Amino acid sequence: MEKYIINGGNKLYGSIEIQSAKNSVLPILAATVLTDDKVKILNAPNITDVKNMAKILSKLGCDVMYENGNIIVDSSRADCYEIPRQLAHELRSSVFLLGSVISRFHTAKIAYPGGCDIGLRPVDLHLAGLKRLGVEIDEEKGYIICKCEKLKGNEIMLDCPSVGATENLMLAAVKAEGATVIKNAAREPEIEDLQRLLNCMGAKVRGAGSGTIVIEGVRELHGCEFLPIPDRIEAGTFLIAAAMCGGEVELNRVCAENISSLLHKLRENGCKIYLNNDKIILENHKRPTSVKSIETQPYPGFPTDLQAQITALCCICRGQSIITENLFETRFKYVPELRKMGADVTVINRNAFVRGVERFNGATVIAHDLRGGAALVSAALAAEGRSEVLNISHIDRGYGSFEYKLRSLGGDIVRISI
Ligand code: UD1
Repeated sequence: MEKYIINGGNKLYGSIEIQSAKNSVLPILAATVLTDDKVKILNAPNITDVKNMAKILSKLGCDVMYENGNIIVDSSRADCYEIPRQLAHELRSSVFLLGSVISRFHTAKIAYPGGCDIGLRPVDLHLAGLKRLGVEIDEEKGYIICKCEKLKGNEIMLDCPSVGATENLMLAAVKAEGATVIKNAAREPEIEDLQRLLNCMGAKVRGAGSGTIVIEGVRELHGCEFLPIPDRIEAGTFLIAAAMCGGEVELNRVCAENISSLLHKLRENGCKIYLNNDKIILENHKRPTSVKSIETQPYPGFPTDLQAQITALCCICRGQSIITENLFETRFKYVPELRKMGADVTVINRNAFVRGVERFNGATVIAHDLRGGAALVSAALAAEGRSEVLNISHIDRGYGSFEYKLRSLGGDIVRISI
């Protein structure tokens, strides 16, 4: 077990490079099963979610090689269609493998997935969509068992624009017979990135980024080399940390358009933001002012994955805010921890009511999930005094070299084993 020890109060100055997007790389890794050729993912983030996905691929018989920050997957000898219980529990994105494994083997067996404990996170839409493509589904003893003679394209209407279901169905449909149309598809940038990858592999996918995705099935896919988009959530986390601590931080290799909902809020907070090609610079030298209300929404709305971090920022703003979580019902688990640091925040149902306090005080706090954990680290960096953040394995799931990057900006943060 490891924890962070953080001495708060330092302003953040300097520049960092943003990693490739976790939420792009995970479905891309799943896509590697669709071909016998090698797929090379450039600049892959060094995070445990990616390592766990790579472990699952190895269990399926794929060769996974790490080389200078890139990952190469060779699935030519993949021979197993079962995703083991323990790994599926460690990583919710293992469910994305259903689409590609069923495409390859016409059968798949997976234990119900795990991931962050942020609500029910059902997979009913994934399964309903797969049924539309001709898959028979049985559920027994905590396993989902899928079988089909062949996958056949069809029209699928998602009840809500689920990111994972959209991606899974794209993966299942690319080599299906005939055309598939996914309606009410999620429009997240990571879905466009998956389309870009699949088309690099020889697929015929169009429409990603809009609510309707059209996939014309092809017989074969081939290998490719692919650079995923930058991680908008990592970028947003660092921008919010800079807004909380004050200072001037430059992010390199970032796409401002993909986090414009956050940039609007940070400008309302009083931060100065400069954009230049693939750079964002945030400058802030005073206590931020509150934004009245923030609601998480599917893209292009405010991302649920930045909800905890922006709430932590609101806690030290001048004025009051209401933050509404519309996607995951239990995504406020970090709030009691922020209260230990002096925050004045009350959660009622899906709303967090925040009255800004002058500053956080250092405290010992526990990370309960990935983004909540990142919010606690930012709060500790902005706090007066010393903090400890426990359970940081949650943070390692999504942020590569987190403390190195923060230290390079001047944050006083060290990792120690306990
Ligand atoms: C993905 C992201 C996650 C992000 C989330 C929302 C990855 C690896 N993870 O998660 O970081 O927080 O999008 O932007 O990309 N739902 C159902 N039935 C289903 C599937 C989803 O009811 O079968 C509901 C969920 O409970 C939730 C909503 O749909 O309320 C959105 O979930 P979804 O978009 O599927 O999120 P994930 O793909 O799990």
